[in-house]
Amino acid sequence: MAGPLALGILVSGRGSNMEAVLDAIGAGQLDAEVRVVLSDVESAPALRTALSRGVPALHIPTGKYRTRLSDEAEKEWVRVLREHGVEVIALAGFMRMIHETILSAFAGRIVNIHPALLPAFPGLHGQRQALDYGAKVAGCTVHFVNEGMDTGPIIGQRVVRVEADDTEQSLSARILEQEHELYPECLQLLAEGRLRIDGRRVRILSAQDALRKECNDPSG
Ligand code: GRF
Repeated sequence: MAGPLALGILVSGRGSNMEAVLDAIGAGQLDAEVRVVLSDVESAPALRTALSRGVPALHIPTGKYRTRLSDEAEKEWVRVLREHGVEVIALAGFMRMIHETILSAFAGRIVNIHPALLPAFPGLHGQRQALDYGAKVAGCTVHFVNEGMDTGPIIGQRVVRVEADDTEQSLSARILEQEHELYPECLQLLAEGRLRIDGRRVRILSAQDALRKECNDPSG
């Protein structure tokens, strides 16, 4: 991939991870450009935030399902993402499952952030699940997206200690701080062409190896 990584960010709510990505770009820590922010929720605060920061942001209809996009809707989402020149999709608090049409259009180029140490506690309320289970450590995971629920190959993780007096709110806040650092870091590895999916594993190449590979195969 030549030039800054062309990102499309999918959001459903608050958008603090989206903001962390924009901040990292602004600070020169992430060589990317957010081409468009899309949401399944018309009132998502993230849409307003994106617009206020000069990033195109749109609500796009989802079709008849509650937990996923319809096939027809996915085609439209792909069309809009392509129209904006998006190379990589970053899910940031996007509350719907991604299916075949988007997965195949962006194969190996969709990433997500999850507030738990996968494979433990996938799905909703990862932080609450960790607390309820009595885990001594919690954290967050950035992973490639596949057809499962939070099951794709893992790019990076951060660990957060669970304190005796933690509530869901206090633990979530400490995990979120780590999310805001981890997501831009992982996206930067992607921007540098340093990630290779090898079965379940994601290999992180040295900057030199990534450069060598790009010279041998400029298509990435
Ligand atoms: C984050 O905790 C993220 O890990 C999860 O949903 C939450 C989104 O928060 N997937 P925000 O919208 O980025 O503030």
